[in-house]
Amino acid sequence: MNGVGRNELQLSPEQQAVFDAIETTQQNLFITGRAGTGKSTLLNHLSENTSKQIVICAPTGVAALNVGGQTIHSLFRLPIGVIADHDIDQGVALRKLLSTIDTLVIDEVSMVNADLLDAIDRSLRQARQRKHEAFGGVQVVLFGDPYQLAPVPGEGEERAYFEDHYRSIWFFDAKVWDDTDLTIYELTTIHRQHEAEFKYMLNAVRHGGVTAEIAARLNEVGARPPPTDGAITLATTNGTVTRINATELARLPGRVLTAKAEVSGDFNGRAFPADEALELKMGARVMFLRNDTGYENGGQRWVNGTVGTVVRIDSTVWVNVDGERHEVRPAVWEKFKYNYSSLTKSLRKDVVAEFTQFPLRLAWAVTIHKSQGKTYDRAIVDLGQRSFAPGQTYVALSRISALDGLYLSRPLRPSDIIVDDNVVRFMSRVTAIPAIRA
Ligand SMILES: Nc1ncnc2c1ncn2[C@@H]1O[C@H](COP(=O)(O)OP(=O)(O)O)[C@@H](O)[C@H]1O
Ligand SMILES: [Mg+2]
Repeated sequence: MNGVGRNELQLSPEQQAVFDAIETTQQNLFITGRAGTGKSTLLNHLSENTSKQIVICAPTGVAALNVGGQTIHSLFRLPIGVIADHDIDQGVALRKLLSTIDTLVIDEVSMVNADLLDAIDRSLRQARQRKHEAFGGVQVVLFGDPYQLAPVPGEGEERAYFEDHYRSIWFFDAKVWDDTDLTIYELTTIHRQHEAEFKYMLNAVRHGGVTAEIAARLNEVGARPPPTDGAITLATTNGTVTRINATELARLPGRVLTAKAEVSGDFNGRAFPADEALELKMGARVMFLRNDTGYENGGQRWVNGTVGTVVRIDSTVWVNVDGERHEVRPAVWEKFKYNYSSLTKSLRKDVVAEFTQFPLRLAWAVTIHKSQGKTYDRAIVDLGQRSFAPGQTYVALSRISALDGLYLSRPLRPSDIIVDDNVVRFMSRVTAIPAIRA
């Protein structure tokens, strides 16, 4: 939850300057800044106060939830995985929707890969029948911090595709930027954290400039025994998350009920999209893994990322979300397989497997990946054996609003802090942009 009520919020001068730039120009903008500089808050303000027709989306369900938007994939009805030059199916309703918008807003754009941004470009050109204009003439406004999490690289063939076609996987290396410009604005005032010391340390983590002194201070604070009354754990791997959730589940009274997934076809080593054996109890804390699709009147009851508590289990599962009980039925996931030929430089896609399970998982712990964009008063950061993705440690630490909310399952090590060279290359442009006069 964001701590500040959306309606009473007063934009800072630099946020207001960006708001004005969005409102009064047609430029494509990239709004960046460190974690907690109020990018998502500004985005929420924009959605309530803009005079433009805007649509808001984000790469993950949790990120979309944070800004009241849709996931990019559900908005544009895109398949999972590399899209390359495949046809994009658009129904009449989607074409109409995309034809009416002035501005497309994307939050957490650091997790959007170049192929996906190019697919968005193509989808907009197609829907609006403006084939020769970038984004079909739509203004795009991207929010995010490339020092936070990068796009997730896919399997072998997908990686090969990126290597052959793009300078890097990042959105800023998409081909659409050959056809149009991107103006960068940087927000500089941090609102999530107030302690100068913590902000200074977080900035060092972001840039990979952690001194021995900073590390010692973070480790000293983080080494306290973690709270036992249910602070969330942020972990690097699904394995750790699963283990913590199993422990918490075991502490609840009552009987465990297990829902077995139906699996058909070959998932070939790739993780299942949900637990094969989902263990639940009354009172279990759960997170939805899919958007609600089964509700005809009255809109979506939940989206991917919504958190709730299990209140009844029989042939279906009932989950209490913000005081309302919802019946949850199993969902079907389709697995596609891409076959890439370096010779023709093209990808083919086939459905190879299906997985059916309740779209729920236990949620006492989440991966750092899922926590991006969130604010927590306190959290236990569990970097496991090692942090393995650029920005991962920075995302985890910067979720926490004050230093005394930080708990570390082990001391930080220099190798936990990884900065991507592509980000350094791109972000060196930021300083070239005249600062916003606040
Ligand atoms: N102008 C503001 N005044 C007060 N609090 C703010 C302001 N902008 C953002 N915040 C608060 O700071 C925290 C981080 O903001 P958020 O928009 O999530 O940052 P970002 O998306 O840049 O990481 C949130 O709790 C938010 O409510
Ligand atoms: Mg944000």
